[in-house]
Amino acid sequence: MTEFPKNFLWGGATAANQLEGAYDEDGKGLSIADVLPGGPKRFEIVNQPDFDWTIDKNKYRYPNHEGIDHYHRYKEDIKLFAEMGFKCYRFSIAWSRIFPNGDDKEPNEAGLKFYDNVIAECLKYDIQPVLTISHYEMPLNLVKNYGGWKNRKLIDFYERYASVVLHRYAKSVKYWMTFNEINSALHFPVMGQGLVKSNGADDMQNIYQAWHNQFVAGAKAVKIAHEIRPDIMIGCMLLYATTYAYDANPVNQLAALKENQTFNHFCGDVQVRGTYPAYTESVMNRYGFSFKDLEVTDADLKVLKENPVDYIGFSYYMSTAVNVIDKKLATAKGNLVGGVKNPFLEASDWGWQIDPTGLRIALNELYNRYQKPVFVVENGLGAIDKPDKNNFVQDDYRIDYLRKHIEAIGGAVEDGVDVMGYTPWGCIDLVSASTGQMSKRYGFIYVDLDDEGHGTLNRYKKASFNWYKNVIATNGKEL
Ligand code: BG6
Repeated sequence: MTEFPKNFLWGGATAANQLEGAYDEDGKGLSIADVLPGGPKRFEIVNQPDFDWTIDKNKYRYPNHEGIDHYHRYKEDIKLFAEMGFKCYRFSIAWSRIFPNGDDKEPNEAGLKFYDNVIAECLKYDIQPVLTISHYEMPLNLVKNYGGWKNRKLIDFYERYASVVLHRYAKSVKYWMTFNEINSALHFPVMGQGLVKSNGADDMQNIYQAWHNQFVAGAKAVKIAHEIRPDIMIGCMLLYATTYAYDANPVNQLAALKENQTFNHFCGDVQVRGTYPAYTESVMNRYGFSFKDLEVTDADLKVLKENPVDYIGFSYYMSTAVNVIDKKLATAKGNLVGGVKNPFLEASDWGWQIDPTGLRIALNELYNRYQKPVFVVENGLGAIDKPDKNNFVQDDYRIDYLRKHIEAIGGAVEDGVDVMGYTPWGCIDLVSASTGQMSKRYGFIYVDLDDEGHGTLNRYKKASFNWYKNVIATNGKEL
């Protein structure tokens, strides 16, 4: 049995737009998440050529508007996290609560106050907040009127926002992340970069320009954070899908290597090492442009170089496989990435391929690549839960998934990897990012709310609640 480090950060993770609700309360502006309709077609809808960011309640439901009403129930929710013994709680600040339009000169005090309260509530129970500065919820105005992250002006807006929240909270919050799953934009640039077909998502140069702007903005946040509090830990956050070659064919092996560079490693290489990797030009050439075509200043490169992140946060749900020889192989669904079906793996209700060993590999790959601490800030099983008449869910399938992934983390610890902690995703049921469904549940806590918005919103402990409580109490000894 693995000994987890003494200060291992056991906890759970959420994002503001997926649980807070109160989308227009206390001065909050609209965010990109507020215009995403519910349902598996949400990305298809926003990528229609005539999509104009209008909220049309006669046509669609907008589940992020209500979330699970955490904005009004955060005390009850954090109390439940404390009961499980959370050492930390990862959540995000809704940018549009602080700067409703993104380009405002002054922050919205009511928004800042809300997070004062949430942080105080965590600290009351000795739960360390782990804050994501931007998690798929940029102010809509920055998308509509500035064209999203491909516009350099966003660097200044983000810097102002990051500076405000860091100055306000860093005294009591040691752990931070700059951008959630920054690399997801390769396949789905809407949530992270505010790019859809109608404002340039089809042009890969825009995506790389947007990334560059985000890298610089993130490095500026790192700089501010270190000036405020030298012992702060501010990390990047990657969507990591361990990528295998389908077989030993060297052609597939090379394809998997390239896929790893392009998807899993590119953003981290810049954010952790502070320089663009050697393969940058080759990747960009494949998309038909050159690094020289991007707007990049010497000052940008300097700020990147001087302000690498302190640790690597990443989400891990599934692995993927690459086969460029056999085009007829079945494809797999996944967390914004797919690949071909791996015959050795089973899949979740949503087709994501379950692979705990892939997590051990991911931890080794990232730590050996960067030699900086790694933090599993998302992992979990999105599943259909069937509560009994007392609203109790016997979610043994979730326990099984989590147990195997925690064992895999233990394996990586034995391999010598410096793992900071583990915050399973959606520790309380919340709105799914990719499908806008409530029925895709990850939580230890069941929330009585369905895909149509019906339900009492009452919270109920699932079987996994007490199981995870014991995992934390025994520091991972009893799984
Ligand atoms: C990650 C995101 O991609 O995966 C979360 O950071 C998201 O915001 C989570 O909710 C699970 O994905 P989904 O689509 O099942 O909600």
